[in-house]
Amino acid sequence: MMFLFAGHGTSATALTWALYELGRNPGVARRLRGEVDEVVARPHTTLADLPVLGFDSSRWDGIDEPPGDRPEYAYFPFGGGPRHCIGMRFACMELKLALATIARRCRVTHGRDEVAVDVGSTVAPGETVHATVRRRD
Ligand code: HEM
Repeated sequence: MMFLFAGHGTSATALTWALYELGRNPGVARRLRGEVDEVVARPHTTLADLPVLGFDSSRWDGIDEPPGDRPEYAYFPFGGGPRHCIGMRFACMELKLALATIARRCRVTHGRDEVAVDVGSTVAPGETVHATVRRRD
């Protein structure tokens, strides 16, 4: 039960925000599709694709304040200390696979540049954003 409540809404919200941001940054979405197309041959990802879906840190090259210079708890989506999220690694793995599969198979667009934010136990969109999902050829 705990895993269902702690693990579902959190991951679904993270994926929702990722798709929202990609929907309003078509250039970034294009780059993501290009990167995924390069390393994933099939129309979906599997666990075997995880090694090639790694994070390319060179994307931070050239920015003034690389995230590595920030204090450890400047950004801690999974909490910290002894009650740190037990599902962190699983969540990162499933989100990577889900996002890469979506990028491989679909284009997600919407016409919104701003959205209300609902701050509760998660930070979720506070209103409906209608999106169009098109299958990629
Ligand atoms: C993007 C996805 C997720 C986010 C952002 C997230 C975030 C968090 C945060 C902030 C905490 C509290 C940590 C603290 O008190 O310092 C937590 C705890 C917890 N999370 Fe996650 N979580 C995610 C996914 C998951 C998944 C997939 C599972 C399980 C399958 C999970 C299971 C748990 C459990 C059991 C706790 C309680 C740990 C404890 O109290 O000892 N979470 N999570």
